[in-house]
Amino acid sequence: MKKKKVKLKKKRIFALSTIVIIIIALIIIFNFNNNNKGFESIGYSELEIKEINKLTNSEINTIKKYKYNSNLIYIIKSENYNPNNLELYLKYTSKYSDIDYLKIVSLVNNEEFDKNKIDEYINLLKTQNNVDGVIEYINNYNGLDNASDIINLISEKYFIKDHLDRYLSYLEDNKSLDYKEIVTRVNSNLDHEFYTDSKSADLSKGMYTLVNKYYYLDKNYVPDDLVSITGIYARDKTQIVSDAYDAFIKMADSARKENLTIKATTCYRSYSFQSTLYNNYVKADGVKNADTYSARPGYSEHQLGYSCDLTNKNNVPFDDFINTDEYKWLKDNAYKYGFIQRYSKEKEYITGYIAEPWHYRYVGVEIAKYIYENNITYEEYYEYFLR
Ligand code: DAL
Ligand code: ZN
Repeated sequence: MKKKKVKLKKKRIFALSTIVIIIIALIIIFNFNNNNKGFESIGYSELEIKEINKLTNSEINTIKKYKYNSNLIYIIKSENYNPNNLELYLKYTSKYSDIDYLKIVSLVNNEEFDKNKIDEYINLLKTQNNVDGVIEYINNYNGLDNASDIINLISEKYFIKDHLDRYLSYLEDNKSLDYKEIVTRVNSNLDHEFYTDSKSADLSKGMYTLVNKYYYLDKNYVPDDLVSITGIYARDKTQIVSDAYDAFIKMADSARKENLTIKATTCYRSYSFQSTLYNNYVKADGVKNADTYSARPGYSEHQLGYSCDLTNKNNVPFDDFINTDEYKWLKDNAYKYGFIQRYSKEKEYITGYIAEPWHYRYVGVEIAKYIYENNITYEEYYEYFLR
């Protein structure tokens, strides 16, 4: 009797479970067909529906609210697809079907995107490709008539918002330059003559302080942690700031392993030393020429204590240093020790100095590497990343 009852109970449980499973399966199939049916009548193809059915219920419900959208599958498969923005993608790609759907995706994804300005964005996007630039322009500078200049400037890698007015006025006077060059030059202060509008160097930047024809050091400024470079590491005994000392020794030691001798001639120079040097050059060569190779007192990086002029075991004169193996090695290795060649041929118009293949500035490995890899001056780096 008991056995029979247990058997009966088991049978019932089995039957019940089967019914439940069948019901669940029917619900799933029904829902699936329902989705299919809904989407078929909107106009989606079988393949499109397959993709749509991979989405969440909330996305599916959003899609159902809209007419057929031929970009839908591309949108949901695009790398910038954000499910939270699906509704806006659908709304605007349907409304503005003449605009590339990817522009709409970027527009809506941008944190600064303002729904109330959609028509203005769209109008500009008809002629411009830089979605972020368009947003920035509309949100901040609407009302100016040089939209395309502004957008092109904003699109530049080293664009700095604060400089927009300066870029525009420099552009006005230099119409033949491209936008990249406008940004480079203004960031390097070239919209002012050298030694005009100069400011006190910002010593709060420590080892990153920029000293050039626009940033000067006080005549009493002396770095407080100078150490001597002597022996095999120097032609004449000289001093360098301690942060840079270890890096310099490391660099010279690595070069030595390749039978190269890197020696410092002068690193730190006092204001008065620079003054004598510069005045002598002026006497011999005139101000105009002297300014192309010597810094005026207060304007020399040497006074900061992070720069060194270098030579080799033969004490080659600076003008011949470019032909040495030491120079060739430094060209591709100095950055690994945190040093940059500060005044290069290609960037003479930015630094204001004729190339100095012998003059190296310590800025630390990370910055030196960036400058080496991106082929920019310290002026450009400083203005964009450190100012
Ligand atoms: N020769 C470099 C520019 C200086 O005088 O500091
Ligand atoms: Zn130098």
